Amino acid sequence: MISSADLKKRYLAFFEKRGHKIIPNASLIPENDPSVLFTTAGMHPLVPFLLGEPHPLGRRLSGVQKCVRTNDIDEVGDAWHLSFFEMLGNWSLGDYFKEEAISMSFEFLTKELKIPVERFSVTCFAGDKDAPRDEETSRIWMKLGVAKNRIHFLPKKDNWWGPAGQTGPCGPDTEMFYHTKDIQEKSTEEFLKLSDKGPFSEVWNDVLMQYNKTADGNFEELRQKNVDTGMGVERMVAALNGADNAYACDTLAPILDKVISISAAGTTRANRNARIVTDHIRAAVMIMGEEKGVVPSNVDQGYVLRRFIRRSMRHARMIGIKGEFCSEIAKVAIDAMGDSYPEVRKNSTRIFEELKKEEEKFSLALENGTRHLEKKLQLLEEAHQKVLGAKSAFDLFQSFGFPLEITAEMCKEKGFSVDEAGFSSLMKSHQELSRKGAEQKFKGGLADHSEAATKLHTATHLLNQALRVVVDPSIHQVGSNITPERLRFDFNWDKKLTDDQIKKIENWVNSVIRAEADVSFEIMSLAAAKKLGAQGVFEERYEQTVKVYTVAKGNNVYSREICGGPHVSNTRELGTFKIIKQEAVAAGVRRIKAIVE
Ligand code: ALA
Repeated sequence: MISSADLKKRYLAFFEKRGHKIIPNASLIPENDPSVLFTTAGMHPLVPFLLGEPHPLGRRLSGVQKCVRTNDIDEVGDAWHLSFFEMLGNWSLGDYFKEEAISMSFEFLTKELKIPVERFSVTCFAGDKDAPRDEETSRIWMKLGVAKNRIHFLPKKDNWWGPAGQTGPCGPDTEMFYHTKDIQEKSTEEFLKLSDKGPFSEVWNDVLMQYNKTADGNFEELRQKNVDTGMGVERMVAALNGADNAYACDTLAPILDKVISISAAGTTRANRNARIVTDHIRAAVMIMGEEKGVVPSNVDQGYVLRRFIRRSMRHARMIGIKGEFCSEIAKVAIDAMGDSYPEVRKNSTRIFEELKKEEEKFSLALENGTRHLEKKLQLLEEAHQKVLGAKSAFDLFQSFGFPLEITAEMCKEKGFSVDEAGFSSLMKSHQELSRKGAEQKFKGGLADHSEAATKLHTATHLLNQALRVVVDPSIHQVGSNITPERLRFDFNWDKKLTDDQIKKIENWVNSVIRAEADVSFEIMSLAAAKKLGAQGVFEERYEQTVKVYTVAKGNNVYSREICGGPHVSNTRELGTFKIIKQEAVAAGVRRIKAIVE
């Protein structure tokens, strides 16, 4: 039996031996990226570097990354789809390309993991108006010994990856599928029928990242050709152990067993409800385990978290789990994940408290809402109608806290559908998910090197320093999020800032802007950066070498911070800095929104 820890160790050692530096696991909540709510892939924290910023550790990187994906939440509960998972990856930032990337993947799978070549199928990009058919990749696979009938050409929807948000680096990919049983497909049609089911799963993806998708939907060639790979740890571990589903992995099996032990007799490991509870509680634990302190709410990450918890409550009821159960399952999830992710142990009290609060809030509503919906569906049935109106779905959200997925799923089980588009537009005009907010979420992002965002990056460094100068030297960044319109900065402080403090902070930042200070960076060891007193929210993420941005006029240093960039080159480019809002976001965390004009 191979464990997740073994696989991760062997993968990282393999790539380290081939000149890769190991990058730390970044937060699930992306830093400075408003375009997505969660880190969805190992490449995500690397976006600026895939677009050409020099990475402090060089051009060959490898690492393991915690990821949350909600786009295939409906498929969770099947054999292989998960909403939280760990992803191993190796990256070339303008260093090696197709041939070397694919050869290393092949070598790792067949030599290191000793998987026979007959157990693989691979896919390549079939080509379209944006990029040509990838014959070269197919030739490389054949040269390595993969049979021609095991190589399938598929269109963009299957064989293209990225960007992670709306814009950014992307490209054709080549995916590796592992068959835990000896299955030899005869055609691409047969392959499509078999893949991602039972003993046949995608385990690794090599993205040949050579394009940047722009805001107007075009694909422009990147000057720097990159490789971005991702191997699903749970899938690979389960497959290597001969299982036909990801829940056999050591970071899921004990959670699923616990769910089964408290459910009605006869619930099996293949039960979809039990798997959903397992997956969702683990995802909720990992999100709440983050230092950022995300709690269930009706916006952004908090809403996704709420959906995980509420959805798991409904599926738990469906397999006879009664009363409060989330913390009991969460305990097992924390044990399964805690060695790799000590933050979930550290924040376990908060995790249990929040789960309890959410369960208390939703238990009764789940019962009453279910009855309410059943009555509604009964009436529709009598009227020979098959679609639940948007208003009814929205009422269920407002009065009973039913996320759309729960309503839609319950409707589907009874043969009804929901006016989901109508629901979304009602939701959009709903105050908490205002249209403005929803739109802003898709502008900018890590890939945003626009002038406006770049200025705000630099302004954020100055604000960070001003808070320490004006308010308290213990203040540091807890979170940051930048759109082209404004910066948002979260920091450790539990009191409202006074008008006088706000004024002084603005004055300090504006005086640095007027001083026309230079902004420059240097790559150095973490120890040297610490010695220089550089601030760093990334401190625990980068290992040995870091990039340090300094804002200084001659010998007068205003700010020094570990950061990936990009930044303006002189503060005079910023204009005038203004704080537009302050608020509390969680216990001990305050937020400032500010602009430059
Ligand atoms: N970023 C690629 C993926 O997630 C490797 O599949």
